[in-house]
Amino acid sequence: MSATELDPISTPSPISAAEIANAMKQETNPWAAQAARFEFAARKLNLDPGIWRVLSLPSREIIVHIPVAMDNGQVQVFTGYRVQHSIARGPAKGGIRYAPDVSLDEVRALAAWMTWKCAVVNIPFGGAKGGVICDPQKMSQGELERMTRRYTASLIEFIGPEKDVPAPDVNTNEQTMAWIMDTYSMHMGQTVTGVVTGKPLDLGGSRGRREATGRGVSVMCDQSLKYLAKPCDSCRVIVQGFGNVGSNTAAILAQKGYKIIGIAEYNGGLINRNGINIPALLKYRAANGTINGFTEAEPIDPAELLVTECDILIPAATENVITSQNAGKVKARILCEGANGPTTAAADEILAENGVFVVPDILANSGGVTTSYFEWVQDRQGYFWAEVDVNDRLDRIMRESFEAVLSYATTHKVNNRIAAYMLAIDRVAFTIKQRGIYA
Ligand SMILES: NC(=O)c1ccc[n+]([C@@H]2O[C@H](COP(=O)([O-])OP(=O)(O)OC[C@H]3O[C@@H](n4cnc5c(N)ncnc54)[C@H](O)[C@@H]3O)[C@@H](O)[C@H]2O)c1
Repeated sequence: MSATELDPISTPSPISAAEIANAMKQETNPWAAQAARFEFAARKLNLDPGIWRVLSLPSREIIVHIPVAMDNGQVQVFTGYRVQHSIARGPAKGGIRYAPDVSLDEVRALAAWMTWKCAVVNIPFGGAKGGVICDPQKMSQGELERMTRRYTASLIEFIGPEKDVPAPDVNTNEQTMAWIMDTYSMHMGQTVTGVVTGKPLDLGGSRGRREATGRGVSVMCDQSLKYLAKPCDSCRVIVQGFGNVGSNTAAILAQKGYKIIGIAEYNGGLINRNGINIPALLKYRAANGTINGFTEAEPIDPAELLVTECDILIPAATENVITSQNAGKVKARILCEGANGPTTAAADEILAENGVFVVPDILANSGGVTTSYFEWVQDRQGYFWAEVDVNDRLDRIMRESFEAVLSYATTHKVNNRIAAYMLAIDRVAFTIKQRGIYA
Protein backbone atom coordinates (compact mmCIF):
# COMPACT_ATOMS: atom_id res chain seq x y z
CA MET A 1 0.00 0.00 0.00
CA SER A 2 1.45 3.41 -0.88
CA ALA A 3 1.45 6.26 1.58
CA THR A 4 -1.23 8.08 -0.38
CA GLU A 5 -3.53 5.05 -0.01
CA LEU A 6 -2.86 4.82 3.72
CA ASP A 7 -6.09 3.99 5.48
CA PRO A 8 -6.66 6.55 8.25
CA ILE A 9 -8.05 3.76 10.47
CA SER A 10 -4.67 2.04 10.35
CA THR A 11 -2.84 5.31 11.08
CA PRO A 12 -2.49 5.36 14.84
CA SER A 13 -3.25 8.49 16.81
CA PRO A 14 -3.56 9.15 20.53
CA ILE A 15 -6.83 10.94 19.79
CA SER A 16 -9.62 9.77 17.49
CA ALA A 17 -10.20 11.02 13.93
CA ALA A 18 -13.44 12.66 15.10
CA GLU A 19 -11.62 14.45 17.92
CA ILE A 20 -8.97 15.64 15.45
CA ALA A 21 -11.66 16.91 13.04
CA ASN A 22 -13.43 18.73 15.86
CA ALA A 23 -10.20 20.17 17.25
CA MET A 24 -9.22 21.37 13.76
CA LYS A 25 -12.50 23.30 13.54
CA GLN A 26 -11.98 24.86 16.94
CA GLU A 27 -8.28 25.54 16.26
CA THR A 28 -7.43 24.88 19.89
CA ASN A 29 -5.68 21.54 20.01
CA PRO A 30 -1.92 21.72 19.25
CA TRP A 31 -1.71 17.94 18.70
CA ALA A 32 -4.33 18.22 15.96
CA ALA A 33 -2.37 21.12 14.43
CA GLN A 34 0.84 19.06 14.52
CA ALA A 35 -0.89 15.95 13.14
CA ALA A 36 -2.42 17.91 10.23
CA ARG A 37 0.96 19.28 9.11
CA PHE A 38 2.67 15.92 9.63
CA GLU A 39 0.08 14.14 7.52
CA PHE A 40 0.30 16.68 4.70
CA ALA A 41 4.11 16.53 4.62
CA ALA A 42 4.15 12.72 4.90
CA ARG A 43 1.83 12.43 1.89
CA LYS A 44 4.03 14.80 -0.12
CA LEU A 45 7.05 12.66 0.77
CA ASN A 46 5.21 9.47 -0.11
CA LEU A 47 6.41 8.28 3.28
CA ASP A 48 6.65 4.57 3.94
CA PRO A 49 3.37 3.58 5.72
CA GLY A 50 5.17 1.74 8.52
CA ILE A 51 7.38 4.72 9.33
CA TRP A 52 4.32 6.94 9.03
CA ARG A 53 2.67 4.88 11.78
CA VAL A 54 5.79 4.98 13.97
CA LEU A 55 6.05 8.77 13.73
CA SER A 56 2.31 9.33 14.23
CA LEU A 57 2.61 8.38 17.90
CA PRO A 58 4.97 9.47 20.65
CA SER A 59 7.18 6.57 21.67
CA ARG A 60 6.60 7.08 25.42
CA GLU A 61 4.13 9.10 27.53
CA ILE A 62 4.63 9.42 31.27
CA ILE A 63 2.02 10.86 33.64
CA VAL A 64 3.01 11.59 37.24
CA HIS A 65 1.00 12.89 40.19
CA ILE A 66 3.36 14.81 42.43
CA PRO A 67 2.67 15.41 46.12
CA VAL A 68 4.13 18.69 47.35
CA ALA A 69 4.19 20.09 50.89
CA MET A 70 2.89 23.65 50.49
CA ASP A 71 3.95 26.58 52.68
CA ASN A 72 0.61 26.49 54.55
CA GLY A 73 1.36 22.97 55.78
CA GLN A 74 -1.08 21.23 53.40
CA VAL A 75 -0.10 18.63 50.82
CA GLN A 76 -1.10 19.51 47.26
CA VAL A 77 -0.91 17.04 44.36
CA PHE A 78 0.14 18.31 40.91
CA THR A 79 -0.14 16.41 37.64
CA GLY A 80 2.91 16.37 35.39
CA TYR A 81 3.78 14.88 32.00
CA ARG A 82 6.88 13.91 30.08
CA VAL A 83 6.35 12.79 26.50
CA GLN A 84 9.21 11.36 24.44
CA HIS A 85 8.14 11.49 20.83
CA SER A 86 11.24 9.99 19.22
CA ILE A 87 14.74 8.86 20.18
CA ALA A 88 15.62 7.70 16.67
CA ARG A 89 18.35 10.33 16.11
CA GLY A 90 19.67 10.59 19.68
CA PRO A 91 18.58 11.32 23.25
CA ALA A 92 15.14 12.91 23.57
CA LYS A 93 15.36 16.68 24.02
CA GLY A 94 12.80 19.27 25.02
CA GLY A 95 11.71 21.83 27.56
CA ILE A 96 9.52 21.69 30.63
CA ARG A 97 6.70 24.19 31.12
CA TYR A 98 4.71 25.13 34.19
CA ALA A 99 1.24 26.53 33.49
CA PRO A 100 -2.38 26.04 34.55
CA ASP A 101 -3.46 25.03 31.03
CA VAL A 102 -0.80 22.37 30.37
CA SER A 103 -2.46 19.29 28.83
CA LEU A 104 -1.27 15.94 27.55
CA ASP A 105 -2.18 16.85 23.96
CA GLU A 106 -0.18 20.06 24.22
CA VAL A 107 2.87 18.22 25.60
CA ARG A 108 2.52 15.57 22.87
CA ALA A 109 2.49 18.24 20.17
CA LEU A 110 5.44 20.07 21.68
CA ALA A 111 7.37 16.77 21.90
CA ALA A 112 6.74 16.00 18.22
CA TRP A 113 7.76 19.55 17.26
CA MET A 114 11.04 18.96 19.12
CA THR A 115 11.70 15.86 16.99
CA TRP A 116 11.12 17.89 13.82
CA LYS A 117 13.04 20.91 15.10
CA CYS A 118 16.17 18.93 16.02
CA ALA A 119 16.04 17.24 12.62
CA VAL A 120 15.61 20.56 10.74
CA VAL A 121 18.83 21.89 12.29
CA ASN A 122 20.40 18.44 11.97
CA ILE A 123 21.51 17.99 15.59
CA PRO A 124 21.70 14.49 17.11
CA PHE A 125 18.62 14.59 19.33
CA GLY A 126 15.12 13.18 19.30
CA GLY A 127 12.13 15.08 20.66
CA ALA A 128 10.46 15.32 24.07
CA LYS A 129 8.55 17.79 26.20
CA GLY A 130 7.36 18.02 29.77
CA GLY A 131 4.86 20.04 31.70
CA VAL A 132 3.26 20.38 35.10
CA ILE A 133 -0.26 21.73 35.61
CA CYS A 134 0.27 24.50 38.17
CA ASP A 135 0.11 28.26 38.51
CA PRO A 136 3.71 29.32 39.20
CA GLN A 137 2.66 32.95 39.76
CA LYS A 138 0.76 31.79 42.85
CA MET A 139 3.55 29.57 44.23
CA SER A 140 6.51 30.51 46.44
CA GLN A 141 10.10 29.71 45.43
CA GLY A 142 10.12 26.97 48.07
CA GLU A 143 6.95 25.37 46.66
CA LEU A 144 8.33 25.57 43.12
CA GLU A 145 11.59 23.99 44.24
CA ARG A 146 9.87 21.10 46.04
CA MET A 147 7.55 20.49 43.08
CA THR A 148 10.47 20.55 40.63
CA ARG A 149 12.53 18.14 42.72
CA ARG A 150 9.64 15.68 43.17
CA TYR A 151 8.77 15.86 39.46
CA THR A 152 12.43 15.13 38.66
CA ALA A 153 12.54 12.22 41.13
CA SER A 154 9.39 10.74 39.51
CA LEU A 155 11.13 10.80 36.12
CA ILE A 156 14.55 9.72 37.35
CA GLU A 157 14.82 6.51 35.33
CA PHE A 158 13.60 8.14 32.13
CA ILE A 159 15.90 11.19 31.95
CA GLY A 160 19.69 11.47 31.70
CA PRO A 161 22.38 12.84 29.37
CA GLU A 162 22.06 9.81 27.08
CA LYS A 163 18.29 9.34 27.49
CA ASP A 164 16.30 12.55 27.68
CA VAL A 165 17.64 16.05 28.35
CA PRO A 166 15.10 18.65 29.57
CA ALA A 167 15.47 22.44 29.22
CA PRO A 168 13.54 25.58 30.20
CA ASP A 169 10.28 26.55 28.54
CA VAL A 170 7.31 28.70 29.58
CA ASN A 171 7.60 29.68 33.26
CA THR A 172 10.73 27.64 33.91
CA ASN A 173 14.25 29.08 33.92
CA GLU A 174 17.91 28.56 34.84
CA GLN A 175 17.01 28.10 38.52
CA THR A 176 14.53 25.33 37.64
CA MET A 177 17.26 23.59 35.62
CA ALA A 178 19.70 23.92 38.54
CA TRP A 179 17.18 22.14 40.85
CA ILE A 180 16.65 19.37 38.29
CA MET A 181 20.41 18.94 37.81
CA ASP A 182 20.97 18.80 41.57
CA THR A 183 18.13 16.32 42.20
CA TYR A 184 19.30 14.03 39.40
CA SER A 185 22.90 14.27 40.64
CA MET A 186 21.88 13.36 44.22
CA HIS A 187 20.17 10.21 42.91
CA MET A 188 23.22 9.29 40.79
CA GLY A 189 25.70 9.97 43.59
CA GLN A 190 27.74 12.30 41.36
CA THR A 191 27.36 15.64 39.64
CA VAL A 192 25.79 15.13 36.21
CA THR A 193 25.61 18.50 34.50
CA GLY A 194 24.57 17.08 31.10
CA VAL A 195 21.12 15.97 32.32
CA VAL A 196 19.60 19.37 31.52
CA THR A 197 20.47 22.40 29.42
CA GLY A 198 19.69 26.05 30.02
CA LYS A 199 21.54 25.86 33.35
CA PRO A 200 23.23 28.79 35.10
CA LEU A 201 26.73 29.45 33.71
CA ASP A 202 28.50 28.34 36.89
CA LEU A 203 26.72 24.97 36.88
CA GLY A 204 27.76 23.86 33.40
CA GLY A 205 25.59 26.26 31.40
CA SER A 206 26.68 27.62 28.04
CA ARG A 207 27.53 31.18 27.25
CA GLY A 208 24.89 32.53 24.87
CA ARG A 209 22.16 30.00 25.83
CA ARG A 210 19.89 32.54 27.54
CA GLU A 211 19.70 34.69 24.41
CA ALA A 212 20.01 31.82 21.91
CA THR A 213 16.37 31.43 20.84
CA GLY A 214 16.05 35.18 20.31
CA ARG A 215 19.38 35.29 18.48
CA GLY A 216 18.21 32.49 16.19
CA VAL A 217 14.93 34.33 15.51
CA SER A 218 16.93 37.45 14.63
CA VAL A 219 19.05 35.47 12.14
CA MET A 220 15.82 34.20 10.55
CA CYS A 221 14.63 37.81 10.16
CA ASP A 222 17.97 38.75 8.53
CA GLN A 223 17.78 35.79 6.14
CA SER A 224 14.13 36.42 5.25
CA LEU A 225 14.82 40.04 4.38
CA LYS A 226 17.82 39.00 2.32
CA TYR A 227 15.72 36.39 0.51
CA LEU A 228 12.98 38.94 -0.18
CA ALA A 229 15.61 41.56 -1.10
CA LYS A 230 14.41 44.03 1.53
CA PRO A 231 16.63 46.23 3.73
CA CYS A 232 16.77 45.54 7.48
CA ASP A 233 17.43 49.15 8.38
CA SER A 234 14.39 50.60 10.16
CA CYS A 235 12.38 47.51 9.30
CA ARG A 236 9.29 47.65 11.59
CA VAL A 237 8.82 44.73 13.96
CA ILE A 238 6.03 43.76 16.37
CA VAL A 239 6.75 41.13 19.02
CA GLN A 240 4.14 39.25 21.03
CA GLY A 241 5.49 38.01 24.38
CA PHE A 242 8.24 39.71 26.37
CA GLY A 243 9.60 36.64 28.14
CA ASN A 244 12.83 34.82 27.34
CA VAL A 245 12.24 34.52 23.59
CA GLY A 246 10.35 37.78 22.98
CA SER A 247 12.58 40.09 25.01
CA ASN A 248 15.84 38.66 23.68
CA THR A 249 14.54 38.73 20.11
CA ALA A 250 13.48 42.36 20.53
CA ALA A 251 16.79 43.36 22.16
CA ILE A 252 18.98 41.67 19.53
CA LEU A 253 16.90 42.95 16.59
CA ALA A 254 17.06 46.48 18.02
CA GLN A 255 20.85 46.18 18.26
CA LYS A 256 20.92 45.10 14.61
CA GLY A 257 19.05 48.25 13.53
CA TYR A 258 15.48 46.94 13.31
CA LYS A 259 12.76 49.21 14.72
CA ILE A 260 10.65 47.46 17.37
CA ILE A 261 7.36 49.36 17.10
CA GLY A 262 5.12 47.10 19.20
CA ILE A 263 5.30 44.73 22.16
CA ALA A 264 2.25 42.69 23.20
CA GLU A 265 1.94 41.04 26.59
CA TYR A 266 -1.06 39.01 27.83
CA ASN A 267 -2.26 41.95 29.94
CA GLY A 268 -1.42 44.92 27.71
CA GLY A 269 0.46 46.18 24.70
CA LEU A 270 2.76 49.07 23.78
CA ILE A 271 3.22 50.90 20.48
CA ASN A 272 5.68 53.55 19.37
CA ARG A 273 6.03 53.96 15.61
CA ASN A 274 9.45 55.60 16.07
CA GLY A 275 10.73 52.49 17.83
CA ILE A 276 10.54 51.34 21.45
CA ASN A 277 13.72 51.70 23.50
CA ILE A 278 14.09 48.01 24.42
CA PRO A 279 16.87 48.32 27.04
CA ALA A 280 14.75 51.00 28.80
CA LEU A 281 11.66 48.77 28.63
CA LEU A 282 13.64 45.82 30.05
CA LYS A 283 14.75 48.01 32.97
CA TYR A 284 11.18 49.24 33.48
CA ARG A 285 9.77 45.69 33.48
CA ALA A 286 12.47 44.49 35.91
CA ALA A 287 11.55 47.32 38.31
CA ASN A 288 7.75 47.11 37.93
CA GLY A 289 7.04 43.51 36.99
CA THR A 290 4.98 44.61 33.96
CA ILE A 291 5.38 46.54 30.70
CA ASN A 292 2.18 48.46 31.41
CA GLY A 293 2.72 52.10 32.37
CA PHE A 294 5.95 52.50 30.35
CA THR A 295 5.69 56.14 29.31
CA GLU A 296 7.92 56.08 26.21
CA ALA A 297 5.21 54.24 24.21
CA GLU A 298 1.41 54.36 23.88
CA PRO A 299 -0.74 51.63 25.40
CA ILE A 300 -2.63 49.47 22.86
CA ASP A 301 -4.85 46.39 22.96
CA PRO A 302 -2.41 43.45 22.56
CA ALA A 303 -4.79 41.67 20.14
CA GLU A 304 -4.75 44.79 17.96
CA LEU A 305 -0.95 44.60 17.69
CA LEU A 306 -1.12 41.27 15.86
CA VAL A 307 -2.99 42.96 13.02
CA THR A 308 -1.15 46.28 13.06
CA GLU A 309 0.83 47.34 9.98
CA CYS A 310 4.49 46.23 10.24
CA ASP A 311 7.16 44.43 8.23
CA ILE A 312 7.80 41.51 10.59
CA LEU A 313 5.40 40.02 13.13
CA ILE A 314 6.98 37.77 15.75
CA PRO A 315 4.60 35.76 17.93
CA ALA A 316 6.87 34.70 20.83
CA ALA A 317 4.39 33.88 23.58
CA THR A 318 2.15 30.87 23.15
CA GLU A 319 0.10 28.62 20.83
CA ASN A 320 -2.90 29.37 18.59
CA VAL A 321 -2.68 33.16 18.48
CA ILE A 322 -2.88 33.45 14.67
CA THR A 323 -6.13 31.72 13.77
CA SER A 324 -8.74 31.84 10.99
CA GLN A 325 -10.25 34.76 12.96
CA ASN A 326 -7.32 37.16 12.59
CA ALA A 327 -4.99 35.66 9.93
CA GLY A 328 -6.73 37.57 7.12
CA LYS A 329 -6.06 40.84 8.93
CA VAL A 330 -2.32 40.26 9.48
CA LYS A 331 -0.54 43.07 7.64
CA ALA A 332 3.03 41.91 8.18
CA ARG A 333 5.08 40.83 5.15
CA ILE A 334 6.95 38.27 7.27
CA LEU A 335 5.66 36.09 10.12
CA CYS A 336 8.60 34.72 12.08
CA GLU A 337 7.43 32.24 14.74
CA GLY A 338 9.39 32.58 17.98
CA ALA A 339 6.76 30.59 19.90
CA ASN A 340 5.87 26.97 19.31
CA GLY A 341 2.60 26.48 17.44
CA PRO A 342 1.44 30.13 17.29
CA THR A 343 -0.36 29.60 13.95
CA THR A 344 -3.23 27.19 13.42
CA ALA A 345 -3.48 25.01 10.31
CA ALA A 346 -6.54 26.98 9.12
CA ALA A 347 -4.60 30.23 9.47
CA ASP A 348 -1.73 28.83 7.38
CA GLU A 349 -3.93 28.71 4.30
CA ILE A 350 -5.11 32.29 4.74
CA LEU A 351 -1.56 33.57 5.25
CA ALA A 352 -0.42 31.70 2.13
CA GLU A 353 -3.26 33.23 0.06
CA ASN A 354 -2.20 36.68 1.26
CA GLY A 355 1.45 36.08 0.41
CA VAL A 356 2.77 36.32 3.98
CA PHE A 357 6.29 34.85 4.14
CA VAL A 358 6.23 32.44 7.09
CA VAL A 359 9.32 31.26 8.94
CA PRO A 360 7.81 28.27 10.75
CA ASP A 361 8.38 27.61 14.45
CA ILE A 362 10.38 24.41 13.97
CA LEU A 363 12.94 26.48 12.06
CA ALA A 364 12.53 29.98 13.53
CA ASN A 365 12.92 29.14 17.23
CA SER A 366 15.43 26.30 16.81
CA GLY A 367 18.30 28.51 18.04
CA GLY A 368 17.44 27.54 21.62
CA VAL A 369 17.81 23.81 21.13
CA THR A 370 20.86 24.30 18.93
CA THR A 371 22.69 26.13 21.72
CA SER A 372 21.34 23.54 24.17
CA TYR A 373 23.12 21.01 21.99
CA PHE A 374 26.31 23.09 22.34
CA GLU A 375 25.78 23.14 26.11
CA TRP A 376 25.37 19.35 26.22
CA VAL A 377 28.55 18.94 24.12
CA GLN A 378 30.49 21.32 26.41
CA ASP A 379 29.27 19.48 29.54
CA ARG A 380 30.42 16.18 28.08
CA GLN A 381 33.76 17.66 27.02
CA GLY A 382 34.22 19.56 30.27
CA TYR A 383 35.53 22.35 28.06
CA PHE A 384 33.61 25.60 27.73
CA TRP A 385 33.56 27.77 24.65
CA ALA A 386 33.83 31.55 24.29
CA GLU A 387 30.53 33.32 23.62
CA VAL A 388 31.70 34.41 20.19
CA ASP A 389 32.27 30.75 19.20
CA VAL A 390 28.81 29.75 20.47
CA ASN A 391 27.16 32.58 18.54
CA ASP A 392 29.15 32.03 15.34
CA ARG A 393 28.29 28.33 15.30
CA LEU A 394 24.64 29.10 16.03
CA ASP A 395 24.44 31.72 13.28
CA ARG A 396 25.97 29.30 10.77
CA ILE A 397 23.56 26.46 11.61
CA MET A 398 20.57 28.82 11.47
CA ARG A 399 21.61 30.19 8.07
CA GLU A 400 22.25 26.72 6.63
CA SER A 401 18.92 25.42 7.95
CA PHE A 402 17.07 28.38 6.44
CA GLU A 403 18.68 27.61 3.08
CA ALA A 404 17.82 23.90 3.39
CA VAL A 405 14.16 24.63 4.15
CA LEU A 406 13.84 27.21 1.38
CA SER A 407 15.42 24.81 -1.09
CA TYR A 408 12.89 22.09 -0.09
CA ALA A 409 10.06 24.61 -0.53
CA THR A 410 11.24 25.48 -4.04
CA THR A 411 11.96 21.91 -5.11
CA HIS A 412 8.67 20.47 -3.81
CA LYS A 413 6.55 23.59 -4.47
CA VAL A 414 5.24 23.73 -0.89
CA ASN A 415 5.10 26.47 1.71
CA ASN A 416 7.96 26.95 4.17
CA ARG A 417 6.21 25.13 7.01
CA ILE A 418 5.49 22.01 5.00
CA ALA A 419 9.03 22.19 3.58
CA ALA A 420 10.46 22.21 7.12
CA TYR A 421 8.30 19.23 8.10
CA MET A 422 9.30 17.36 4.93
CA LEU A 423 13.00 17.97 5.54
CA ALA A 424 12.66 16.85 9.17
CA ILE A 425 10.49 13.80 8.50
CA ASP A 426 12.80 12.73 5.68
CA ARG A 427 15.83 12.86 8.02
CA VAL A 428 14.10 11.01 10.88
CA ALA A 429 12.63 8.40 8.51
CA PHE A 430 16.06 7.80 6.95
CA THR A 431 17.54 7.09 10.40
CA ILE A 432 14.69 4.75 11.37
CA LYS A 433 15.13 2.84 8.11
CA GLN A 434 18.88 2.54 8.65
CA ARG A 435 18.44 1.37 12.25
CA GLY A 436 15.62 -1.03 11.37
CA ILE A 437 12.75 -2.00 13.63
CA TYR A 438 14.01 -3.85 16.71
CA ALA A 439 12.06 -7.01 17.39
N1 LIG B 1 12.85 29.49 26.03
C1 LIG B 1 13.30 28.94 24.92
O1 LIG B 1 14.51 28.77 24.74
C2 LIG B 1 12.33 28.53 23.83
C3 LIG B 1 12.86 27.87 22.72
C4 LIG B 1 12.02 27.57 21.66
C5 LIG B 1 10.68 27.90 21.72
N2 LIG B 1 10.18 28.52 22.84
C6 LIG B 1 8.76 28.86 22.81
O2 LIG B 1 8.62 30.27 22.86
C7 LIG B 1 7.41 30.62 23.54
C8 LIG B 1 7.75 31.53 24.71
O3 LIG B 1 8.66 30.85 25.56
P1 LIG B 1 9.54 31.63 26.66
O4 LIG B 1 10.59 30.69 27.06
O5 LIG B 1 9.90 32.97 26.14
O6 LIG B 1 8.49 31.75 27.84
P2 LIG B 1 8.44 32.84 28.99
O7 LIG B 1 7.59 32.28 30.05
O8 LIG B 1 9.81 33.33 29.32
O9 LIG B 1 7.69 34.06 28.27
C9 LIG B 1 6.41 34.01 27.73
C10 LIG B 1 5.90 35.46 27.70
O10 LIG B 1 4.70 35.51 26.93
C11 LIG B 1 3.71 36.25 27.65
N3 LIG B 1 2.41 35.73 27.23
C12 LIG B 1 1.81 34.58 27.56
N4 LIG B 1 0.62 34.45 26.93
C13 LIG B 1 0.48 35.57 26.19
C14 LIG B 1 -0.52 36.03 25.30
N5 LIG B 1 -1.62 35.31 25.05
N6 LIG B 1 -0.34 37.22 24.70
C15 LIG B 1 0.77 37.97 24.93
N7 LIG B 1 1.76 37.57 25.76
C16 LIG B 1 1.61 36.39 26.37
C17 LIG B 1 4.05 35.99 29.11
O11 LIG B 1 3.51 36.99 29.93
C18 LIG B 1 5.57 35.99 29.09
O12 LIG B 1 6.10 37.30 29.19
C19 LIG B 1 6.76 29.30 23.91
O13 LIG B 1 5.90 28.92 22.86
C20 LIG B 1 7.95 28.35 23.98
O14 LIG B 1 7.56 27.00 23.81
C21 LIG B 1 10.97 28.83 23.88
